[in-house]
Amino acid sequence: MTGLKRPFAEMAGTGRYIPAKVLSNADLEKIVDTTDQWIMERTGIRERHIASEGETIACMGEIACRQVLEATGVSVEEVDGLVVGTASPDRLLPSQACDLQKTLGAVNAAAFDVSAACTSFVYGVSVAEGMIAGGTAKNVLVVGAERLSTITDYNDRGTCILFGDGVGATLVRASSDGKRGILSTYLKSDGRLGDLLYRQSGGANEPPSEKMAKERSYFLRMAGREVFKHAVRSMADACDQALTRAGLTSDQVDLLIPHQANIRIIEATAKHAGMPMDRVYVNIEKYGNTSSASIPIALDECVRSGRVGPGAVVLMVGFGGGFTWGSTVVRW
Ligand code: ACO
Repeated sequence: MTGLKRPFAEMAGTGRYIPAKVLSNADLEKIVDTTDQWIMERTGIRERHIASEGETIACMGEIACRQVLEATGVSVEEVDGLVVGTASPDRLLPSQACDLQKTLGAVNAAAFDVSAACTSFVYGVSVAEGMIAGGTAKNVLVVGAERLSTITDYNDRGTCILFGDGVGATLVRASSDGKRGILSTYLKSDGRLGDLLYRQSGGANEPPSEKMAKERSYFLRMAGREVFKHAVRSMADACDQALTRAGLTSDQVDLLIPHQANIRIIEATAKHAGMPMDRVYVNIEKYGNTSSASIPIALDECVRSGRVGPGAVVLMVGFGGGFTWGSTVVRW
């Protein structure tokens, strides 16, 4: 919490990029022992989009960011902060943000990544808000970008049914009228739960090796049932905390945009928050879980369709590996 009077920063403009290629449940039935019915009942996912060769995060991110700049009238030269949340960067060094900076031509930006798995976008917004408040930057692009298909094991039916690729983005800048903007943020993590969702190899402790390739330990692993339980708990905590900090109750919220991980987690979160499902945005059927991209993709859909318009109060809530969770309340 800062001593500054909120809102001092706002989200302005949105953008997204979804790869054209679709991986449907029917496609997955041919790859692993599963059924469309099981996936729909347990997750709410019907299909997800998968990046093709050449659809790098830098390329997808550039398109999403250009949409944000077009919507806000901010030039690429005016961007002085570029924060990318991702768990699946194009390469490990330099940061994804620096590679995107180059593709976008955001030559005046301080570019860096935020790593909080599916909560990365919410973390990124909070970091950007701090940059605005501290006078470090004026126009910060915050991007959630994933190519999870590259770290998903398509031999593992417990995970491969869930994940998809895509990018969403927004701009964080000083509040234009002192009324619209970020009303609260809440960030939390618990590293003791790290082994519930992790990638074992490929990092400095277990560098790439033949063993890694043989054991497929480069891919994401997840204890689904345990993640599910913690997700429900942490999403509930994140809703409560963001609302308390904003001094609002859920009936004052126009729309809940939860991280799109599983329809059952979303429904449990909505129930806890006392939000009827007609005030909860759900697009998991089309995209699956796109990790850090899921909230900004959903936000972009809502803004472009008019579901979120001027003055709307939006609660965004995320959770992910780490374990991390967090939330923000925004008056659009
Ligand atoms: N198709 C058919 N059967 C399956 C499949 C599948 N794709 N996957 C698992 N099963 C079977 C299991 O083997 C098990 O069979 P058994 O009872 O004979 O042992 C049965 O279905 C039930 O398995 P559970 O794992 O208990 O199934 P659950 O209802 O928990 O659903 C799921 C699994 C969908 C993964 C769920 O646990 C979930 O969504 N967890 C949260 C995942 C999540 O949100 N992850 C994202 C975190 S965000 C991030 O940081 C990336």
